[in-house]
Amino acid sequence: MDMLVTDGKVHDEQRQGEAFAPFVQDPNQYRKHFYIESYGCQMNFADSEVVASILNAEGFGATRNLEEADLVLLNTCSIREKAEQTVRKRLHDFKKAKAKKPSMLIGMLGCMAERLKSKLLEEEKLVDLVVGPDAYRSLPTLIEEAGGGQKAVNVLLSREETYADISPIRLDSNGITAFVSIMRGCNNMCSFCVVPFTRGRERSRDAYSIVAEARDLFERGYRDITLLGQNVDSYYWMDEARDQVVTFAALLEQVAQISPDLRVRFSTSHPKDITDEVLFTIARYENICKYIHLPVQSGSTRVLQLMNRTYTREWYKAKVDRIREIIPDCGISSDIIAGFCTETEADHQETLDIMRYSRYDMSYMFFYSERPGTLAARRYTDDVPEEVKRRRLQEIVDEQGRLSTQSNEADIGKTYKVLIEGNSRKSDDEWMGRNSQNKVIVFPKQGDQDLRGKYAWVKVTGCTRTTLLGELA
Ligand code: SAH
Ligand code: SF4
Ligand code: F3S
Repeated sequence: MDMLVTDGKVHDEQRQGEAFAPFVQDPNQYRKHFYIESYGCQMNFADSEVVASILNAEGFGATRNLEEADLVLLNTCSIREKAEQTVRKRLHDFKKAKAKKPSMLIGMLGCMAERLKSKLLEEEKLVDLVVGPDAYRSLPTLIEEAGGGQKAVNVLLSREETYADISPIRLDSNGITAFVSIMRGCNNMCSFCVVPFTRGRERSRDAYSIVAEARDLFERGYRDITLLGQNVDSYYWMDEARDQVVTFAALLEQVAQISPDLRVRFSTSHPKDITDEVLFTIARYENICKYIHLPVQSGSTRVLQLMNRTYTREWYKAKVDRIREIIPDCGISSDIIAGFCTETEADHQETLDIMRYSRYDMSYMFFYSERPGTLAARRYTDDVPEEVKRRRLQEIVDEQGRLSTQSNEADIGKTYKVLIEGNSRKSDDEWMGRNSQNKVIVFPKQGDQDLRGKYAWVKVTGCTRTTLLGELA
């Protein structure tokens, strides 16, 4: 998905990707239809696929056509204020659609559910049902209640729910790349972050169910699987049958062993938790992608401390060194926040400096947005003026632009194994695929063979800031 290569762009709205609606299934097959849009991170996209599966079992088919839908769902994100504003706008669009079709039910799912439930349900009457990230199994009951005119809400967070047994229905899929959720929630308390409040305590999913889902995807033709969690390195699951703990490194290995033709990726790693064992596992398997998303957030030790990231600038740099030592050809990307509370010009310079040191291939870059209830909102003042935040963010974006260009230029002349995902966005005469390092490569087709889902060796002959250009080797 190209959302992974949108480097240089200011992501102050949502982290990854646009809203999406699922494909149309055979319209005659189902009497009831749901329409779903997802915002926020990949975990929300993966959750929408679990929701699709739950609804499917209740006789709902997916539709892309809002007017046709009996149930309209918005899977929401709270990570930054801008994300919440986007959702509100969409809810007003849906209200208009409902005015034309009063039987339509509108539901809010995901991370905004807990925070805004009473406001949207009772005060503004924008939605008929509100369902939090751990309560999707109760959707059928809630739909029934809402259909009967009751207020249908379940935003309870769970310590156990992982939806391990639910086989997600892939929405808007290219049939080649898929996300597999391996854990939920987060136990870190980064002071800026709302996720521990919206998604609750961290819990790991049954390793057998993860491997089974990955194997099933492979058998259905998928070739690139991303294991998802807010902090995948703290994956920890007790295999009672074997009286053995499954760590993230062990899980990664089990998924990689499904087939050498299955590429395995993962996201996100916390710099404090990624172990040598994981790095050696990546190095050992050709099909574990040589790419690590290692969000730094800030380059200043003082700011990192206020952020409660629990590592220092030096620790982070040593981690980057270790990655480069064990996996010399590893791609590294980052998340960066500009203008966190008390950030000085010198702190900002340290962020630019650590970007250069780490030589990120790409980054997601944001300016700080205070979130109600977080440690930072309670303890610190959001004191960096908006124009300063914007200027610093622009400098970060420009720096990343230079680094991305340098990184791509350094690839010219190299040959990569590329998994072909489809036509390039610009032309049906070109294929688009990605290499192990997660870089997008576009190259001219030769002949009219359908190579989607196949590997090809491609020599890089040129580049733009975001894309490598090549030819079949
Ligand atoms: N679990 C991941 C990140 C999850 S949120 C991790 O720990 O790295 C994705 C990114 O959004 C974060 O890495 C951070 O850069 C950004 N982010 C989170 N809260 C934010 C806030 N309040 N303001 C601006 N950016 C924020
Ligand atoms: Fe948020 Fe930190 Fe958890 Fe990431 S690790 S989800 S930034 S609290
Ligand atoms: Fe947003 Fe929730 Fe993901 S707040 S970034 S959708 S975990």
